Amino acid sequence: MIPTHIGIIMDGNGRWAQQRGLARTQGHIEGLKAGKRLAKAASDMGIPYVTFYVFSTENWKRTADEVGFIMGLVRRYLRSEFNFSRENNIRVRYTGDLSGLPSDVAQDITDTCMESVGFTGTQIVLAINYGGKDEIVRSVRRALDKGHEISGETISIHLDNPDIPDPDLIIRTGGEKRMSNFLLWESAYAEFYFSEKLWPDWTADDLSVAIADFQKRERRFGGRGKLGS
Ligand code: FPP
Repeated sequence: MIPTHIGIIMDGNGRWAQQRGLARTQGHIEGLKAGKRLAKAASDMGIPYVTFYVFSTENWKRTADEVGFIMGLVRRYLRSEFNFSRENNIRVRYTGDLSGLPSDVAQDITDTCMESVGFTGTQIVLAINYGGKDEIVRSVRRALDKGHEISGETISIHLDNPDIPDPDLIIRTGGEKRMSNFLLWESAYAEFYFSEKLWPDWTADDLSVAIADFQKRERRFGGRGKLGS
């Protein structure tokens, strides 16, 4: 079975650029191209949901120049890629705290999400100003505001996109093996795939290899599985 939802931690843009004697920003430009390439690949493979970790709640610690560059890149991407979304029937969605973003960026994100709401193919979720802990806190606040008791169920249904199934597979590129505050609640039973390859070098073939690896795993969701039954 192909995974229903894949989360991707796109790591290694900076190192990709440094290895070539280029500015880190050039790595982000190539990273964006890889994002588009992999969104198209996922759409061609018929994967229903892909969440890309674009900007974390911790990424504000980077220099103002780099933060500004990434925000500008995201805005240009959102504004110019409507045809790409339409041609591939891709719906763009969002997870993260919009209120913590510059208002023009937040506006472009909500506009893009609205414009593509009718596209029925792959749903690409952009995690921007996103932190797993922050999403859980925001969910608990929403539940309390509505007077709900706090339970696993009420936390799940007040997350940013409660209709999207939990990720089956989380991919991290760039050699590090950590979650970095990505989809903490949702990835409780996700399978992980780590790749040494830096994000700008990722291709559709790499995605196929990751999915083939995922397909060999035995998922038990806390049960005993074939051997123990
Ligand atoms: C990780 O590399 C990259 C980021 C945190 C920046 C943002 C990602 C993009 C611009 C790609 C956008 C893609 C889509 C689909 C909109 P890093 O800078 O942490 O690399 P390093 O670990 O080598 O320094």
